[in-house]
Order: sequence, then C-alpha cells, then structure tokens
Amino acid sequence: MTELQDEAQRRRAIALAIALTADTHLAPDQYEFDLLESYAQGERTLNQVLLELDTRVQHLLYRSQAVELLTAVQLTELLEESRAWNRAHGITGLLCYGSDGHFVQVLEGPAHEVHALYVKIQRDKRHQNVQLLSNKAASSRWFTDWQMAFVETDAPDFFWLISYLEAREHNLVMPQIPITEPLLLTLLNQFSRT
Ligand SMILES: Cc1cc2nc3c(=O)[nH]c(=O)nc-3n(C[C@H](O)[C@H](O)[C@H](O)COP(=O)(O)O)c2cc1C
Repeated sequence: MTELQDEAQRRRAIALAIALTADTHLAPDQYEFDLLESYAQGERTLNQVLLELDTRVQHLLYRSQAVELLTAVQLTELLEESRAWNRAHGITGLLCYGSDGHFVQVLEGPAHEVHALYVKIQRDKRHQNVQLLSNKAASSRWFTDWQMAFVETDAPDFFWLISYLEAREHNLVMPQIPITEPLLLTLLNQFSRT
C-alpha cells in the first residue's frame, strides 16, 4: 500500500472515530474536535495536529464577589501571592476587580495547572458566589506577558463586562460596550472568538 493510501485510511479512521464517539464521554472537546476534523479533511498533517494538542492553552474564566471590599494593601498582597505561584506554574491571565467588590478572572496555562488552581481559588474565603463562565482550550495565550494582569474598574465598566461575557456564553445578542481599557478589550475580543 502506498504512503498516500495509508494517509487516506488514517484520515478516514479519524473521521470514523469522531462520529462513533459523538455524544459519549469519549467525545473530543471542541478544540480537539476542530483539530481532528481538520486532519480528517486533509487540512492539517498528523504532526501539526499532535503539536497543537500538546501546546494547547486552557482558558478558564469565572466571576465572583468579594466577601468584604478589599483594601489596596489586601489587593497588592493577593496579586503578589498570585504572581509568584503563577510564575512557577506556567499560569498567566487577568484579574479584574470592580469597585463594588466583583471579580472576573481569566486563568490560562496547561489544563492541569489551571484546574488545580481554580480548585484552590474556589475555596478562598476572601470571595463567594464563584461562577464559572467559560472553560475552553485554545492555541495560544491572551495575556502572554502577565503572571496576572490587574485592572480595577468602576461599577459601570464591570456591568458592561459581565453583560458582554454572559451574552456571549449564552449565544445572545452582544451589547455594544463602552469599554476602552486595553486589557479588558483584549479579554472581550479574544473571548468573542473562542
Ligand atoms: C479573586 C482571587 C483570585 C486569585 N487568583 C490567584 C491566582 O491567580 N494565583 C494564585 O496562586 N492564587 C490566586 N488566588 C489565591 C488562592 O485562592 C489561594 O489563596 C492560593 O492559591 C493559596 O492557596 P492554598 O493556601 O490552598 O495553597 C486568588 C484568590 C482570589 C480571591
């Protein structure tokens, strides 16, 4: 059998595996699905697919509410502690703190690190009502240079940010957002693509 026939058979096998595992617990997630599908369609080589699976970045987005408003000193302590941990564990991201005590945070990095950190964050007594907004893989980071970027917003900006993220998550019509802060715009632009 020629190499081309081999390759065509592999592509067919992958297409079959995708179809057979659909709606079972073995089904690939969206990121894996898109890559495998593009291999089955002949748009990527197997090596490209394997590389993109190995280097994928998990993006986890949640919102929460501070139990008590944090002082500037408490926020600085939280950021210092976070950045030290994140640097050592390959995590980057953005923490947004609204003046009314709401948090929105993006954690990005290897899936096992992101999920382990999220477990700790959920247990943290400094905030409550932790709600997951999104948890997806993508091919690259959004906040590459930040062990944890930080933005403090006023209440209206926070309201728009949440309205936008929730509309996107529920496939509703997106509101027009009057947000100009560059880090928040990065989050909104990237989030609307995934
Ligand atoms: C809103 C919020 C965001 C946080 N973000 C991070 C973070 O990015 N990285 C981190 O290491 N800890 C973060 N923390 C702190 C963790 O919740 C936790 O205190 C820290 O991981 C130490 O946990 P441990 O005492 O269970 O080891 C955050 C806490 C809060 C309240």
